[in-house]
Amino acid sequence: MIEVEHLHKSFNGTIAVRDISFEVNKGENLILLGTSGCGKTTTLRMLNRLILPTSGNIRINGQDVRSAQPEKLRRGIGYVMQQTGLFPHYTVAENIAIVPKLEKWPKEKIAERTRTLMQKLGLSYEEQAHMFPHELSGGQQQRVGIARALAADPPILLMDEPFGALDPITRQKIRNDFKEVDELKRKTIVMVTHDVQDAFALASRICLMDKGSIVQLGTPEELREQPVNDFVSRFLKGEYN
Ligand SMILES: Nc1ncnc2c1ncn2[C@@H]1O[C@H](COP(=O)(O)OP(=O)(O)OP(=O)(O)O)[C@@H](O)[C@H]1O
Ligand SMILES: [Mg+2]
Repeated sequence: MIEVEHLHKSFNGTIAVRDISFEVNKGENLILLGTSGCGKTTTLRMLNRLILPTSGNIRINGQDVRSAQPEKLRRGIGYVMQQTGLFPHYTVAENIAIVPKLEKWPKEKIAERTRTLMQKLGLSYEEQAHMFPHELSGGQQQRVGIARALAADPPILLMDEPFGALDPITRQKIRNDFKEVDELKRKTIVMVTHDVQDAFALASRICLMDKGSIVQLGTPEELREQPVNDFVSRFLKGEYN
């Protein structure tokens, strides 16, 4: 579904992503794991053309993303930003409705979809739909960010630290709820995290990165049982968190 070949990105001479290749199969949850600054966000943003690669290829369903119209491409790909990226002057409902509105859904359908999604993500439509993001807790804001990405039911989701900036208990709760959301089970997901527990709880496969390169790509069991080097074992023990 997603194919990445020899992807490379440098910003004014600083290499952020160094010749990485991977594939994501339909229905998989590939987790990009790694230390701060290793190139996770840059990789994710290249997948939906928010950033253009310096070199390399990305194909989604066989189509080169360079030849896709950016707006059209992004509507088929839900994006959950690092730090939620909610619009502060939009209500919760308005934030969730952004893509359905762009797609000119009728009002009733948008309201119905918003209500369903909020309920699935453990939010209250009656109480919270008309609140502004700053009136919600961090965990609730993260849930709204996920609802927004799911709104138009895109087949692919890119999620950048969707449980970032939360205390460990809330994080675990959201992670567990996340696993139960039926819509998410059908999606092809690329999720960024620096948290080993997130990765082990949610990944079909883990892509462990360091300094812009992939150190190891495999199932959680493969990384745990056959780490390719000391960095992998130490990372999994939490020594870099
Ligand atoms: N727009 C930019 N201009 C210049 N350098 C950038 C830019 N964006 C990212 N970088 C650099 O590229 C490298 C990778 O950044 P990136 O945001 O991809 O890291 P990350 O793995 O997502 O880190 P974190 O876990 O802290 O979010 C860093 O060294 C960063 O400083
Ligand atoms: Mg990042």
